[in-house]
Amino acid sequence: MKVIESPQEMQNWSRAQAKAGLSIGLVPTMGYLHEGHLSLVRRARELCDLVVVSIFVNPIQFGEGEDFDRYPRDLSRDLDLLKKEGVGVVFAPTATAMYPEKERTIVDPPTGMENRLCGRNRPGHFRGVTTVVSKLFNICLPDVAVFGQKDAQQALIIEKMVRDLNFPVRIVRGEIVRELDGLAMSSRNVYLSPEDRKKATVLYRSLLMARDLVGQGVRKTSQVRKAMFDMIDQVDGTQIDYIEIYNARDLSELEEINGQVLIALAVRFGDTRLIDNLLLEV
Ligand code: PAJ
Repeated sequence: MKVIESPQEMQNWSRAQAKAGLSIGLVPTMGYLHEGHLSLVRRARELCDLVVVSIFVNPIQFGEGEDFDRYPRDLSRDLDLLKKEGVGVVFAPTATAMYPEKERTIVDPPTGMENRLCGRNRPGHFRGVTTVVSKLFNICLPDVAVFGQKDAQQALIIEKMVRDLNFPVRIVRGEIVRELDGLAMSSRNVYLSPEDRKKATVLYRSLLMARDLVGQGVRKTSQVRKAMFDMIDQVDGTQIDYIEIYNARDLSELEEINGQVLIALAVRFGDTRLIDNLLLEV
């Protein structure tokens, strides 16, 4: 497994593979890998001849006062995990290599999609994501890029960006991988105290309850959101950022649950903000 730091060298490597007729699957990550990330790596390996995993904690997608400085990092552990997965190249650039100049071009996320859900309380977050992902596509030249359903809004925004800007890459989504008790895996779970870790299971439980309500015939989004809100609010120390039910294709608002629906939530436990979601077909 090769570790490449330089964007230029990465691009040269990818070009050479394409010339040799080999397809590349890219899995963009910020490192501190867990089974969720590795499931995307396996997906990429099934679909392509070669897998590139990028590890880059992208400073421009973190807002002021967010956790950029304390975001967990452990490159040598990540490399060990990826070696076992048969990854061809890990692209691990420095921030200076990715952003050498202070003045820079920014790729704006699709209008209308970025202001809701995670975009509402994290202004500028998705511009940071669309900008870095555009750069990663241009540097790694993937045929396929795999993103997790865990970040449903991010996946939707990238899919739309790829259509709008004609990136020659196919976007594939990987399912959410969960801990045994249902908590969605996240690099940020390490921030949780043992108590909050237990409490955090309420996120998935509230999603399952929502699914049950819909199964019982409830269609009003307000009713389902209220039931979820009450369930999470009952747990001490939780601070609900949002609970939303949207059309899963374009994130438009819904009064009635119908069609492909995304139930998404973000909840804070102290300084730690966790997200989760569920897709429903009604
Ligand atoms: P990161 O949070 O490291 O996530 C990298 C990829 O792993 C994302 O596509 C995310 O949706 C996926 N992922 C995270 N947890 C998962 C889980 N439990 N199950 C399945 N997939 C999971 O998302 C980012 O990094 C960044 O925004 C990035 C796209 C790399 C741009 O900087």
